[in-house]
Amino acid sequence: MRSSAPLFFLAAIVASGLVRAQAPLTSLPTLTDEQMVAAEARYQRYCSLCHGADRQGHVNDHAPSLKSKSLLASGFPRTLREAIAYGRPGTPMGGYLDEIGGPMTLPEVRELALWLATVEKVEPFSVTHDPVAGDAALGARVYAENCASCHGANGEGGTGTALGNPVMLGLTPDRFLRHAIAEGRDGTPMPAFKDTLSAGELDGVTAFLRSRSSGWKHEKPVLATPPPLDRIVLNPEAAAPDFTLADGLYVSAAELDRELKAGKKMVLLDTRVTSMWQMTHIAGAVPAPYYSSREEVLASLPADGTWIVAYCECPRAAAESVVRSLRESGVKNTAVLYEGIQGWITLGYPVVAGRASPGAAH
Ligand code: HEC
Ligand code: HEC
Repeated sequence: MRSSAPLFFLAAIVASGLVRAQAPLTSLPTLTDEQMVAAEARYQRYCSLCHGADRQGHVNDHAPSLKSKSLLASGFPRTLREAIAYGRPGTPMGGYLDEIGGPMTLPEVRELALWLATVEKVEPFSVTHDPVAGDAALGARVYAENCASCHGANGEGGTGTALGNPVMLGLTPDRFLRHAIAEGRDGTPMPAFKDTLSAGELDGVTAFLRSRSSGWKHEKPVLATPPPLDRIVLNPEAAAPDFTLADGLYVSAAELDRELKAGKKMVLLDTRVTSMWQMTHIAGAVPAPYYSSREEVLASLPADGTWIVAYCECPRAAAESVVRSLRESGVKNTAVLYEGIQGWITLGYPVVAGRASPGAAH
């Protein structure tokens, strides 16, 4: 009978609600040494370009810190896994799961999320899914005064993440958002507001953000097949394009559009994670993600001086890394689209959906 006393004690704590909102997980599952090495290698290959070799964030495209204990403790496992698997469409964060055209299997995504939490030795707590009730109108005022300067007047993002992104809102529980607002993100510009805003204001701004989400639903995508390697050269019989490169590297969207419309011969490389090519790309572009090996890319390209134009999301980091690598291998006539595909779309130039719609011929 005596042995039941500690259990009774524990049950009493749980009943008292002391551990309800932030139940600590007993411990993180352990990765083997081999899994740790493999996960770190994947991190360096796929993620360091934007999130930094040391996971510090803000190396490219305002990618957030993946070291922040505040993020890891509240985001592990679900929010981290979902961000890595499906990305944040509408931002430079692509999805890495093979199901949507990414390079990783689900177990690899799970391992990577666990590795991120393990290297920072966080004690994750499971974020509960009960909604945060708050006064959204008050929250709108709090937002305009305290948040818009970094996150944008319409949640479009800037120094801070795009908080108006319906996919981000669709995948993050209210408690995860509130935790980020109250505790901030250590090691980043995101301040903790728990001492400057009242509990009502914290609830209100969380409710305001939630009110911006538009009921996003995940549908299983149908993947398009990239064109075969012998068909990657556009207009193989035509003349070479006439580009004037800025800084010896950049071609403008206007010039690229003009030469594509004139039917000139070239190769267009989409250097983003392939899941982003699946969603939308410039017609004729083939996926050559920034993490491909140099040999892989070289093997698929013509070696006869055909012009090669690379682009990425916003606007140049991934494309530049691919073109730099090609130039180091002696490939001639290479260029980077200066505005990136986001600029290209904003300027009104055409793109096509890579994802075949169900039942479509191709
Ligand atoms: C091309 C740049 C880029 C690459 C490469 C990239 N990310 Fe991101 N990532 C971003 C940006 C930008 C965001 C912020 C998205 C937003 O505004 O919601 C982000 C967000 C995230 C988040 C959500 C963090 C939060 O604060 O909610 C996680 C987790 C993440 N990335 C992990 C990864 C991992 C792991 C990889 C590699 C498999 C990776 N990212 C590759 C740019 C990138
Ligand atoms: C000084 C600039 C700044 C201000 C002011 C600011 N933020 Fe942030 N916020 C950031 C940055 C930068 C990040 C990304 C942190 C990182 O790098 O990990 C962020 C992250 C967040 C996140 C996490 C998003 C995600 O995808 O995980 C939320 C939620 C958030 N901020 C809400 C707010 C709210 C609400 C306010 C106002 C009460 C606010 N922020 C004020 C800079 C700011």
